[in-house]
Amino acid sequence: MTEVARHYTRGEGLAARIAASLQGAGKDLARITTADLGPVDEFHIRGRAATLELAPGLQLGPASKVLDLGAGLGGPARTLAETWGCHVTGIDLTPEFCRAANEISGWLGLTDRVTFVEGDATALPFEDASFDAALTFHVAMNIAAKDRLYAEARRVLKPGGRFLVYDVMQGEGGAIHYPVPWAQDAAISFVATPDQVESLLTGAGFRVLDRTDSSDESVAWFEALSARIAQSGARAVSSGMILGEGFEEMVRNQVRNLTERRIRTVSFLCEA
Ligand SMILES: C[S@@+](CC[C@H](N)C(=O)[O-])C[C@H]1O[C@@H](n2cnc3c(N)ncnc32)[C@H](O)[C@@H]1O
Repeated sequence: MTEVARHYTRGEGLAARIAASLQGAGKDLARITTADLGPVDEFHIRGRAATLELAPGLQLGPASKVLDLGAGLGGPARTLAETWGCHVTGIDLTPEFCRAANEISGWLGLTDRVTFVEGDATALPFEDASFDAALTFHVAMNIAAKDRLYAEARRVLKPGGRFLVYDVMQGEGGAIHYPVPWAQDAAISFVATPDQVESLLTGAGFRVLDRTDSSDESVAWFEALSARIAQSGARAVSSGMILGEGFEEMVRNQVRNLTERRIRTVSFLCEA
């Protein structure tokens, strides 16, 4: 297993642990919704709200074939399939995420439209020009070879296909405080500035249609989340189930890094 996959792995049976937590909170697994799962399976800043806000730029419809690079537990992929009726393939380096992602899709009756495979986003096992659209959310900060990541995305997209990148990027405030949700320390953290990402994307053959810095909204999202938890208690499921004991310190650092402008959340909408 790679260092990155090890960082994201807390043993087997992740889907069973999520099911038990949801059932413990009184949820019936047969009636579970993508919104119920969002706090754990939309594993990026601003969660499901960010997916629903950004994905319209991909111009999806029921016939669209979509690729999610670094799909994690599959929340974004399922939200897209449910909202736009498209078919989504997710690829991820962490084997336990792929197993859990396919199991969770079964709870929601989405296995005919969403599939997760284990693999490396910098060496995709897919034919040239085989997808209509692609996305990658909070993945490139674990990838040193971003040129290969974006070149592979370009290769598998049909000409004119849209590519949505939403990532944590380096800010102007200085070095990152660790641990953070994507890394215990700098060894598996490869955060690039928004300008570097933009030139990598154009270098890979993409036309950048939009670049949006959502850092202020990200800080507000964390504030609203902690106020909600203070008022109503912890949620049934959360990214803490993925990240384990160090989770709270990681989130504290994430917020500090954002407010001190050491990190930024930035999205790019591109065209192949
Ligand atoms: C913070 S999670 C985000 C998951 C998902 N995109 C989401 O927003 O819910 C980062 C994910 O990137 C995956 N990842 C990191 N490097 C990768 C690579 N080279 N190829 C494929 N997946 C990778 C990790 O396994 C992890 O699932």
